[in-house]
Amino acid sequence: DGDVYKYYVDGEWKKSSSGKSVPIVNPTTRKTQYRVQACSQEEVNKVMDLAKSAQKLWAKTPLWKRAELLHKAAAILKEHKAPIAECLVKEIAKPAKDAVTEVVRSGDLVSYCAEEGVRILGEGKFLVSDSFPGNERTKYCLTSKIPLGVILAIPPFNYPVNLAVSKIAPALIAGNSIVLKPPTQGAVSALHMVHCFHLAGFPRGLINCVTGKGSEIGDFLTMHPGVNCISFTGGDTGIGISKKAGMIPLQMELGGKDACIVLEDADLDLVAANIIKGGFSYSGQRCTAVKVVLVMESVADALVEKVKAKVAKLTVGAPEDDCDITPVVSESSANYIEGLVLDAKEKGATFCQEYKREGNLIWPLLLDNVRPDMRIAWEEPFGPVLPVIRINSVEEGIHHCNASNFGLQGCVFTKDVNKAIMISDAMETGTVQINSAPARGPDHFPFQGIKDSGIGSQGITNSINMMTKVKTTVINLP
Ligand code: G3H
Repeated sequence: DGDVYKYYVDGEWKKSSSGKSVPIVNPTTRKTQYRVQACSQEEVNKVMDLAKSAQKLWAKTPLWKRAELLHKAAAILKEHKAPIAECLVKEIAKPAKDAVTEVVRSGDLVSYCAEEGVRILGEGKFLVSDSFPGNERTKYCLTSKIPLGVILAIPPFNYPVNLAVSKIAPALIAGNSIVLKPPTQGAVSALHMVHCFHLAGFPRGLINCVTGKGSEIGDFLTMHPGVNCISFTGGDTGIGISKKAGMIPLQMELGGKDACIVLEDADLDLVAANIIKGGFSYSGQRCTAVKVVLVMESVADALVEKVKAKVAKLTVGAPEDDCDITPVVSESSANYIEGLVLDAKEKGATFCQEYKREGNLIWPLLLDNVRPDMRIAWEEPFGPVLPVIRINSVEEGIHHCNASNFGLQGCVFTKDVNKAIMISDAMETGTVQINSAPARGPDHFPFQGIKDSGIGSQGITNSINMMTKVKTTVINLP
């Protein structure tokens, strides 16, 4: 069936025997753009079995050979950047240039991962017993890092390629196999990315990609006894997954309410530029987007004016035209964002622009004088709407940041480095950026959230380590 993209198992592209498919709605046209297979639970069982057997052989494949294949996949991925980017534009309305950047960044991530894996997995430890009281030098302990087995990778819609390879590459270099469940919107981009790994020549069954409805195979996958680790990025469904998953390592990244604290001595032009980039790139649909500005009252008017001027320059329209602001991913997402905007309006926030929406396209909106009783002070719009809360002390800003149930990243703008460090220490988030907007990259930096923002730490090195376990052999001398 030429109209429905096949899923990938055992090195082959297959139609689901369910005969069913899942539509992928283009956020811009709001019409069905693509269709993918609705895999059944039996098909998931088959994939798990194949992934398990393929992993056993892969774990015995020399590390340098695993790295070589990853380098090959990275190069092919970059060669395919144009068609993959086109899918990203159609499926998730990512602006054309950002879509290309996502693919190139992904190729770089895969290569870096291959290099890093060779270094960190190529060495183990050697311990001797006589450093512990009561022991003679009669026990030699050798440690190495071994793979976990089958890794279930679940990336979100906003980076269906990059946040897939950030799980796939560390898993593979460490000797694991992969079952990928892409987001529905983004599934075709992900399938195309998997095709690049296929072309690189990885063994059959090592990388598999199942598509389908969460209601049909979601829990079935995450609770499957064949899964040895789950790496998930997405919304609060991750909390449910964590509760239901078995006794396996989990890597979860579940969003944030990243605060931008602006002190009186901050360079306001720098702040305004970072608020635009941090708050409005990909229309605010990033877990690391600036989601609340906490600015000292004395500089608030000046900052709001500067941001307003920059918002006026943002282009709004189709992702094909590389507009800054493009339609948000779905109608339900647009409705949710609208709900937050209307709540803020009712409770008296100052609208710096008029609220405007056409279909899934929401014009960028800055809301000033937001107060803690408004939903938008706490909830994540995942859209181009940014609240500004005016504060009278740094403590007030830190308090608001720490009262959030999220704790992904945050940022602070000041020229006083001592203050910046003290504020960074006080903010209960996984990362604090000083004088720049929050961001996950460069992709080898550790990336982690606390509280409802997730568990575990990502970034290339941490992901490789997380997807292995320590194995020791002790030599007992007479
Ligand atoms: O959406 C969540 C991503 O991990 C954020 O990545 O900071 O590169 O946009 P980014």
